[in-house]
Amino acid sequence: MARYLIGMTGASGSAYGVDFLRRCPGEKFLVLSDWARQVLHTETGLKPSDLDAHAKRTFADTDLSAPFSSGSNRYDAFVVIPCSVSTLAKIAVGIADTLITRAAQVALKERMRMVLCVRETPLSTIALENCLKLSREGVVIMPISPPWYAGPESLDDLVAGFTGKVLALLGERTGRGWRQEELE
Ligand SMILES: Cc1cc2nc3c(=O)[nH]c(=O)nc-3n(C[C@H](O)[C@H](O)[C@H](O)COP(=O)(O)O)c2cc1C
Repeated sequence: MARYLIGMTGASGSAYGVDFLRRCPGEKFLVLSDWARQVLHTETGLKPSDLDAHAKRTFADTDLSAPFSSGSNRYDAFVVIPCSVSTLAKIAVGIADTLITRAAQVALKERMRMVLCVRETPLSTIALENCLKLSREGVVIMPISPPWYAGPESLDDLVAGFTGKVLALLGERTGRGWRQEELE
């Protein structure tokens, strides 16, 4: 069974993090930043504890002694969804003062898979440079940008269109590919 570490930060788009957490199979560990907790409530009405049922365990972002602060505990991927440009910047310069940013430094040094679903628009030159720097380190920069080619009919469809792309990237195939019937 695949093991995933999932971080949610205070960027807009909590619904993407919630949907990804719900749909992602495997063993899931969750960390929410302080601002993720606030934005989650503002945007979805959910409390952080409402997400506990979807994760094997939730760790506090202040808990720098949590298992994923160490490279001795491995996983298949660390997905930050949504990822603020603040967390992006911290990761890019090596700041590790929260569990999310510490786990990101561990992922970088241990060459473990990391996917940052950045949500901001427009993007400053600083944010773009941070994305480029981390992309060159092998991090997948996956701006929250839902596809429309599957014909979404609701907000849920639109959200699932993006989270499905993240799941597909991880090898957890969901839904059908574009013109997939031509391959059958
Ligand atoms: C309602 C709301 C929406 C926000 N949306 C974004 C956003 O889309 N992108 C972003 O980078 N920051 C956004 N922010 C600002 C971040 O929450 C803020 O920079 C925070 O310090 C991020 O900290 P964190 O990355 O540790 O969660 C938003 C804040 C609020 C209150």
